[in-house]
Amino acid sequence: MLVDGFGREVNYLRISVTERCNFRCQYCMPEKPFSWVPKENIMSYEDMFKFVKVAIDNGVNKIRITGGEPLLREGLDSFIKMIHDYKNDIDLALTTNGYLLPSAAQNLKNAGLKRINVSLDSLKKEVAHHVAQKDVLATVLDGLDEASKAGLKVKINCVPMKDVNGGEIIDILEYCMERKYPVRYIEYMENSFASSDLKGFKSADLLELIATKYKFKKVPRENSSPAQYYELENGYQFGIIEPYGDDFCESCNRIRLTAEGFLIPCLYFEDALSIKESIENNDIDGACKILDTVLANKPEKNKWSQDEDGEVSSRAFYETGG
Ligand code: 5AD
Ligand code: SF4
Repeated sequence: MLVDGFGREVNYLRISVTERCNFRCQYCMPEKPFSWVPKENIMSYEDMFKFVKVAIDNGVNKIRITGGEPLLREGLDSFIKMIHDYKNDIDLALTTNGYLLPSAAQNLKNAGLKRINVSLDSLKKEVAHHVAQKDVLATVLDGLDEASKAGLKVKINCVPMKDVNGGEIIDILEYCMERKYPVRYIEYMENSFASSDLKGFKSADLLELIATKYKFKKVPRENSSPAQYYELENGYQFGIIEPYGDDFCESCNRIRLTAEGFLIPCLYFEDALSIKESIENNDIDGACKILDTVLANKPEKNKWSQDEDGEVSSRAFYETGG
């Protein structure tokens, strides 16, 4: 079992397989990054899998693949299949922008993927184009249909932004409700890469908006979920993620591995250590020692909730996978 310095059991590993992306979302990387990580600095899937085995052997039972856009990296199906074949009851999930899903969904399902989270910020062609800086809507909606047909469980991520998609909160809720996809509205997290004029909605604003049409009640928070869920009278549940809060830190069960091999103990915590060299040298004990150190250093609470000076984070979401 992996346990951190505060006694929290870590059973959830998030793996960012690439920081590259085919979208330029306003809240993430509206400008093409100055430079990408050179290919030779990226861990191979074989090496990542060596670490995954250690993690699984030590009790990790939930793995999420993220990016950048993970479907851009070739061979993702085989990586998923390696994990699935090693332990087929792992809760194996993927976070994607959905653009490559129309052709990838069935292969991902066949490889052993169980669930996907897809970004959907607008149901209007022009607005979706503005957010991603690419004409993406029809393809993403097609991808969602294909994923659902293939038998993948679908969840939707939506970042509500003032003067962008703020008028569509209920439309998106209804689109998801009809298809039984839980939607999670994620409060916009300011960061130095995002478009400077973006303004997000806070949880209270969203609840007020939804309450103009639907009655709902708060669902008791599930252990270790960063989302607070609400249930409508028809039983449909939507969630809100408030990154500035820290309610979820107490039961945080996750660590992150980046494409370059950095183990990151907390999304808002800069201290990361690389396992790349140890793994490449087949020094699995060395990698385990690094894992132990990272776990011991996992902070009690996310740094943002403690920051009172309102400093804007320079952490790139596309590197650590949100
Ligand atoms: N604020 C909130 N959510 C973000 N995401 C990426 N960047 C941000 C940000 N600055 C979320 C998007 C996407 C997921 C991968 O991460 O909702 O769906
Ligand atoms: Fe790409 Fe996701 Fe960032 Fe959008 S949020 S630019 S889809 S990594």
